[in-house]
Amino acid sequence: MSIQSELQATISDMIVEGKGILAADESLPTIAKRFKAVNVESTEENRRAYRSLLLTTPGLGEFISGVILFEETLGQKTADGKPLPQAAAEQGIVPGIKVDKGTVALANAPGDLVTQGLDGLSDRLVAYKEQGARFAKWREVYTIAGHNPTALGIKVNAEVLARYAAICQSLGIVPIVEPEVLLDGDHTIERCFEVTEAVQHAVFHALYRHRVEPEYIVLKPSMVVPGKDAPTKASPEEIAEKTLAQLRRTVPAAVPGINFLSGGQTPEEATANLNALNAMADNAPWQLSFSYGRALQEPVLKAWQGRAENVQAAQQALYKRAKLNGAARTGSYTAEMEKN
Ligand code: 13P
Repeated sequence: MSIQSELQATISDMIVEGKGILAADESLPTIAKRFKAVNVESTEENRRAYRSLLLTTPGLGEFISGVILFEETLGQKTADGKPLPQAAAEQGIVPGIKVDKGTVALANAPGDLVTQGLDGLSDRLVAYKEQGARFAKWREVYTIAGHNPTALGIKVNAEVLARYAAICQSLGIVPIVEPEVLLDGDHTIERCFEVTEAVQHAVFHALYRHRVEPEYIVLKPSMVVPGKDAPTKASPEEIAEKTLAQLRRTVPAAVPGINFLSGGQTPEEATANLNALNAMADNAPWQLSFSYGRALQEPVLKAWQGRAENVQAAQQALYKRAKLNGAARTGSYTAEMEKN
């Protein structure tokens, strides 16, 4: 199969009506934090048990077309010995892998961060592909504060993200391109719009310079929202309107899918916002979907609490959130549906 047909096949399996992506790729410090909130110790066995619970949830493939895994999970198995990427694939869920190595301070741009992990990336990707990964994810973060993000921060992050995406495509792996404008702060929705526009403009320009084909990427952006400590909140309709306006300014129509991150929104907010986006997006050129981590997993962790006897309840919680977000893909979610 040619590289292009391989990329196209993966895109077709990932971007599916009514379905979205589950982000289950928390790094070791992040999963430890999530587990701690429900009093579970982050041991390798607990992480295996938890992620195995997620991927073997009955019916998950009805609403989830892809899962982002952490490196360790690629090599782990279910209790009956099935590799976890295979357990996902058997449900029609494409396995993918987070490949960035987290952020460090960007020198000479105080307050800005840059993501690491390009060195040796192509060798790692070849190995991940052998383990079943068909797509990858790389996240850049941008803090909104007085002078941040700086022009330097925006430029350097875009360049790194584009290099990652180009390497992925050259190996037949679909890159999820994730420029995350953080929710932290008390900024207005207008300021978030302005920053997100500048960030995405730089990202798509860098992707073009690096000859990344927009037909074979998935964009994973943050929505345009006010900072979490902002005095004025925004309705799902306002968020949808501003997010769509911003995407129309910056994202080529050739991009097949935009799968939002939840970034600290509650599960209900993330679903309501995605629903409003789809309700408003009649003639949008891209599919608008989800790639949620916390907004899908928060109720699951609460139900599970690290106990084998809670696995079924935890899986039901995941199925429910996936189903509600599946409904939000067509703008047919209502708050009433939360009650069932
Ligand atoms: P959240 O939806 O919790 O923001 O996680 C998505 C993700 O993959 C962040 O990189």
